[in-house]
Amino acid sequence: MKAAVVSSFGAVPRYEEFPAPAAAGENDMVIDVIAAGLHPRVRSQADGSHYTSTGELPLVPGIDGVGRGADGLLRYFILPDTRAGAMAEQTVIDTRRSIVLPADSDPIAVAAAMNPAMSSWVALRQRVQFQAGQNVLVLGATGNAGQMAVEVAKPLGAGQIIAAGRSASRLAGLAAAGTVLLEGDAETVASRLGRAAADVDVVIDYLWGEPAAAAMVAVVTDRADRGKPLTWIGVGSVAGSTAPIPSAALRAARLQILGSGQGSVSTREILAELPVLAREIAAGTFDIDARPVPLTDVEQAWADAATTTRRIVLTP
Ligand SMILES: NC(=O)c1ccc[n+]([C@@H]2O[C@H](COP(=O)([O-])OP(=O)(O)OC[C@H]3O[C@@H](n4cnc5c(N)ncnc54)[C@H](OP(=O)(O)O)[C@@H]3O)[C@@H](O)[C@H]2O)c1
Repeated sequence: MKAAVVSSFGAVPRYEEFPAPAAAGENDMVIDVIAAGLHPRVRSQADGSHYTSTGELPLVPGIDGVGRGADGLLRYFILPDTRAGAMAEQTVIDTRRSIVLPADSDPIAVAAAMNPAMSSWVALRQRVQFQAGQNVLVLGATGNAGQMAVEVAKPLGAGQIIAAGRSASRLAGLAAAGTVLLEGDAETVASRLGRAAADVDVVIDYLWGEPAAAAMVAVVTDRADRGKPLTWIGVGSVAGSTAPIPSAALRAARLQILGSGQGSVSTREILAELPVLAREIAAGTFDIDARPVPLTDVEQAWADAATTTRRIVLTP
C-alpha cells in the first residue's frame, strides 16, 4: 500500500510503498483511512522529538484519523504508539480506541478538529474540577488548539475568557471577553497580562518556555486575591520545552501547575469525551479551518504546515 514514510528523522515523510498492516488482536480492525490530521504532535512524532518517540524507523506518522473498516461504519480513531500510523491508505485500529461517527459526519472536519479541540476539552473536563462561572486565560490563543480553547471553555460554562497571543489580527477574531497581545517589551506585556488576568481561575497554557514563566509571574503578581486557587494547565509547548519558573511564583499565590496530555490523562478518560466532542464538531461549535491535501502531496504538505495557520488534513 502507499503511505507517508519517514526513513530518517532529518527528512520529511515521502509518499512510498509500505507493508499493508494486518489485524493481530481480537479488537483490531483494518481501516481504510479517509482523513488524518497533520497536527504539531504528528510533526514531532515524525521528527523523533515527541516524548513518546522510541527512535525506531521507518515509520508512518499520524496519531488519529477518520476511516471505514469492513463493517462499513465511519469511525474516528486514536492510534496507540505505533510505527504504522494514520497517514497511509490503511492502518490497524483497536476498535476500543475509536468511536462510530454519524454517517453524515464530515471526515475532514473531524480529523482536523478532534486533536486541537480535545486539548482544552479534556483538560477542563478530566484534569480539573472546572466549575461553571470560573474564569479562564488561554495562553497562546492564536493557534488551532488555542482558538478552539476559547470556543471550548464557553459550552463548559466558563465565566470570563481571556485570550493571549502574539497575533493581533487573530486575537481580534476570537470571541473572548478580553485579549492580551504578547508583543512588545517584557514589562509592558507583563503589566497588560497581569491586569487582564487578575481574576482568572484556570490557565490553559499552549506556550510553556520563557513566555509561560514570565506570564506566570505577571499573573501571580497582579492577582486580585492571592489566596484564590489558580490552576495552570500545561497543554502545549510551542515556545519551549522547559520554563524557568521562579520559586516565588509558587509561594506568593495559591498556584498549582499540572499538565494534560497523553499519559497524564488515560486513554479511557480521553475516549469518554470523544462522542460529545464529535457532536460539538458536527453542530458547528468550533470554527474549523481545515485544508485537505492528497496523501501523494505529503512532502509539500509538511513544508506548508510550518507556515500555514490552517490545519492540514491528509486524504489517502
Ligand atoms: N496535550 C494535548 O492534549 C494537546 C493536544 C493538541 C495540541 N497540543 C499542543 O498544543 C500546542 C498547540 O497546538 P496547535 O494545534 O494549536 O498548533 P498550531 O495550530 O501550529 O498553533 C501554534 C500557535 O502557537 C503560536 N506560537 C508559537 N510560538 C509562540 C510564542 N512564543 N508566543 C505566542 N504564540 C506562539 C503560533 O503563533 P504565530 O502564528 O504567532 O507563530 C501558532 O499560532 C502544541 O504544542 C501541541 O503539541 C496538546
